[in-house]
Amino acid sequence: MGVIKDILRTMDYGPAPEGAEHVRAWLEEHERGFGHFINGAFLRPGELFDVFNPATAKRIARVSQGSPADIDAAVAAARKALPKWAALSGFERSKHIYALARHVQKRERFLAVLETIDNGKPIRESRDIDIPLVARHFYHHAGWASLIDAEFPGTKPVGVCGQIIPWNFPLLMLAWKIAPALAAGNTVVLKPAEFTPLTALAFAAICVETGLPTGVVNIVTGDGATGAALVEHRGVDKIAFTGSTEVGRAIRKATAGTGKKLSLELGGKSPFVVFEDADLDSTVEGVVDAIWFNQGQVCCAGSRLLVAESVAETLYAKLRARMAHLRVGDPLDKSTDVGAIVAPVQLERIRRLMREGEAEGLEFFRADDSLPEQGCFYPPTLVTGVEPASVLAREEIFGPVLVAQTFRTPDEAVALANNTRYGLAASVWTENVNRALEVAARIKAGVVWINSTNMFDAASGFGGYRESGFGREGGREGLYEYRIADEPKPKPKPARPPRLAASPGFAPARNIADSDIDRTAKMYVGGKQARPDSGYSYAALDPAGREVGLAGLGNRKDIRNAVEAAAKASAWGAATAHNRAQVLYYVAENLAAREAEFARRLRAMTGAPARAAKAEVEASIRRAFVYAAYADKFDGAVHATRSRFVTIAMNEPWGVMGIVCPDAVPLLAFISLVMPAIAMGNCVVAIPSASHPLSATDLYSVLDTSDVPAGVVNIVTGEANVLAKTLAGHDGVDALWYAGDAEGAAEVERLAAGNLKATWTCVPAIDWAKAEGREFLRRATQVKNIWTPYGE
Ligand code: NAI
Repeated sequence: MGVIKDILRTMDYGPAPEGAEHVRAWLEEHERGFGHFINGAFLRPGELFDVFNPATAKRIARVSQGSPADIDAAVAAARKALPKWAALSGFERSKHIYALARHVQKRERFLAVLETIDNGKPIRESRDIDIPLVARHFYHHAGWASLIDAEFPGTKPVGVCGQIIPWNFPLLMLAWKIAPALAAGNTVVLKPAEFTPLTALAFAAICVETGLPTGVVNIVTGDGATGAALVEHRGVDKIAFTGSTEVGRAIRKATAGTGKKLSLELGGKSPFVVFEDADLDSTVEGVVDAIWFNQGQVCCAGSRLLVAESVAETLYAKLRARMAHLRVGDPLDKSTDVGAIVAPVQLERIRRLMREGEAEGLEFFRADDSLPEQGCFYPPTLVTGVEPASVLAREEIFGPVLVAQTFRTPDEAVALANNTRYGLAASVWTENVNRALEVAARIKAGVVWINSTNMFDAASGFGGYRESGFGREGGREGLYEYRIADEPKPKPKPARPPRLAASPGFAPARNIADSDIDRTAKMYVGGKQARPDSGYSYAALDPAGREVGLAGLGNRKDIRNAVEAAAKASAWGAATAHNRAQVLYYVAENLAAREAEFARRLRAMTGAPARAAKAEVEASIRRAFVYAAYADKFDGAVHATRSRFVTIAMNEPWGVMGIVCPDAVPLLAFISLVMPAIAMGNCVVAIPSASHPLSATDLYSVLDTSDVPAGVVNIVTGEANVLAKTLAGHDGVDALWYAGDAEGAAEVERLAAGNLKATWTCVPAIDWAKAEGREFLRRATQVKNIWTPYGE
């Protein structure tokens, strides 16, 4: 009795540890070390490395370091299992995935404890958030498995998927990767992070238990070198990666030109925007979830607090008071709020960044500096007085550190929010629904939470804009990453002959001033015709080698001007879809009015028979009408996520798109690529066929007379592959479609690693007669999910 009275007096928390006996016994069973899980069985342990509990700094297991030979064996097993798994009916696959969900659920407690011991996250989080979401992900995708044929017609599985995951949500990231891959009929080789491989191995045991066919899931443990071997393996058809932007960029380069499909979920520096009318008490709880959840080791952590100046001090005071109640300590204790940092190297990274911040003279607040004596801990920290240029406002800290800045107007808030190379997520706090939705639409991020934060659900896509990567995980949008068009694989085309000289239809450059009358078709930049910066033109030749006309020889400066003009025209993306449709209809009509002239031009340029030329123009006109029709019909969705949330999946334009057109059917291909891009609100820099540029340059007057706003379509003629390189390396270009040769595609993908722009380089395989429809619109957009709560 006395004890209860004492407790009531002090109101102190007593220890409330979660039982860990089962997990400890399981770890002891494997004391000699874990082997890889390949072809349905655990191999004998190989070369081993230690795995530590970050909260105690004690070794908890030894795990095999995957070699290239191990990756080889795992890929071979996945390849062997692929035909049967892919051929199973969706219903049969769904039963297997459903069994995985059920078994995860049955072992929830075990998996939560293991995750906490391995990663250092509080048991409350692994028990109430991570593992339930893992089960939810498998359930949701069990459903997709049975619907995949009906819902994704004309597609098939990608093949063998190499999946590399980080250490911050080990089992959840595994679920985000494996569940959609299996549902879509693929087989996988997954490499967990070296700090946290244990729940993946426990999951492998579940795969055995549920009777998943051997080889469908393979797990190879190891470090970055093991990951790199998986990325480079020729038997892998797709790489899905979550981790740092730096490694993501290296993977983009390593996969360039290999034909591997790629999705990257990378770093973030997500804004948490608080307006003066926000409910500040709710906001404080939001901040706790945004930055102190999982010790701030969350790619989408709301790590930049942007707060209206008028309420900043009030909010800081409330936050400081709340911070005093955060309990840092034993992650297995059920009343711990903040657990351990995953590893000493991460802790040192946080400390280094804090030292840099201190050197800048920033103000730090920590409610309580006392930390457990052992293990990797860092106290919740609030940093104020931060300027946008500060290292702490720019770098991903990946720790429990909140960095605060103030703003005065909504415009300034949006500018600050977007003042980052990342674009993963954002939180917006205001009681004004109009403002919330307006700001959500203007922030460049793949997920925006209104009056909420860190909400996840299997039914909603998750993934970034800009240097936070491309591709989505979860929801319908995530499944596209694991399906490809059900068509024969394109044969790689031989590289085009090097350059100006003997290429058919493409004769040596000459100085523009050499011609008596300058008949050179110029560039089309910002709605005006512009002379090429080089001052040179080249002759477009017909198949007999006769000159058909002259086109400007564009260079990097012309591309830069065109990108600048396209960026200035961004209001096009905000125009109503109805307005854009009207403009596209007008283009189609004006093209139709000049049908005969365009057919003559095609005949002259390509030597096509009259009927073929006429057919190409007719097809181009029809296609222009189709995209005018689509402009206001490529709707987003409302995902069925959680109750009391409307999760709006909006299809947003990329912004500035580069489009490199092929030589084949020069007018039809140009229209097939440019029209869907602008229909969705992008502004385009297009490089027409180098050999047959004149049907594109003839379009200038069509665009001029069709009310296409200046800068929405920019056209630069010249050597396609040379210009493509400049476009691919340009940070102002957000996405790039390339329809050229294999060599050029590889170069474009490699250079795109700079700002991690999304690329689509499979276009040359396209049958242009059929190159139309939703696939083009989907690739011309990226999905933003806006989570909007309702109810009091
Ligand atoms: P990391 O990007 O090196 O590791 C993530 C995964 O990639 C691990 O499985 C690792 O073994 C693997 N990997 C490393 N190098 C590779 C390579 N060359 N090829 C293929 N796979 C490779 O991240 P790290 O070093 O653990 O953390 C460093 C920083 O990265 C963190 O401080 C944080 O800022 C950021 N990060 C972001 C994450 C996110 O979810 N966005 C997750 C983890 C880290």
